Amino acid sequence: MNTQLTQHQTEIRSNLRAWQNKPLLRGIYSGFYRRIMGLLDPKLAGRIVEIGSGVGNLKSHLPQSISTDLFPNPWLDAVCDGYELPFVNGSLSHLILFDVFHHLRAPNAFLGEARRVLTRQGRLILFEPYISWSSFPVYALFHHEPVAWQAAINFAESLPRPRDYYAAQGNATRLFFRHQTRDWPSGWSLVHTEAFAGFSYLFSGGFSKPAFYPARLLPGIERLDRALSRWPGLFGARCLVALQPL
Ligand SMILES: C[S@@+](CC[C@H](N)C(=O)[O-])C[C@H]1O[C@@H](n2cnc3c(N)ncnc32)[C@H](O)[C@@H]1O
Repeated sequence: MNTQLTQHQTEIRSNLRAWQNKPLLRGIYSGFYRRIMGLLDPKLAGRIVEIGSGVGNLKSHLPQSISTDLFPNPWLDAVCDGYELPFVNGSLSHLILFDVFHHLRAPNAFLGEARRVLTRQGRLILFEPYISWSSFPVYALFHHEPVAWQAAINFAESLPRPRDYYAAQGNATRLFFRHQTRDWPSGWSLVHTEAFAGFSYLFSGGFSKPAFYPARLLPGIERLDRALSRWPGLFGARCLVALQPL
């Protein structure tokens, strides 16, 4: 097995254990998946495909979706790279990426491929970390992936193989909320951008750390999150973005 595959499978095994043993995590993700499902357009014809499905949890809420990932696992429907999708032109109604966009070194190269496979008015839905004053230290200190807040972003229209591992947790915030690159992404309309507080998520310890609060407190902390979401620049921790090709 190559190094990337070995690392992925080690992470997948540990994520699966966390998912099975941590009802708190499942409760938090149910809320996240409901937000994503609220952005699906039922009038669109075509299949729904998830890219970078990992342990494949979205499918428990969206059984009709096609689960895919770069690396093989028995629960996936297909193995594929987001830069080279095995779908015919205009055949998909929705593409969903949950915590995957910040692993795409060349977002424009991916957007070109997404445009090819999506039907007219099809939707690309991204769920990502959101960097705010309060979430920055948590993502920077307690998560193994870099925030890469100042790093250059590669805007090339293609990304040749071999493609190495890449992570930049701050990319969605920088590109879709702070608009650090003017008029980007060209040829797409942003139909939804929403950043919201996620203390329920941050203090849950996610997949890799122990929880700082018991599952029975989740409804109360989610209420607090809803109230604090009025100030995403201070308290935001997660974001949801939907785009349509023009
Ligand atoms: C942080 S994990 C998220 C997994 C899952 N979506 C979840 O929310 O638990 C990122 C996933 O994206 C996949 N990935 C990274 N780059 C990819 C690419 N170019 N094409 C397809 N999948 C990719 C990885 O293999 C990994 O499973």
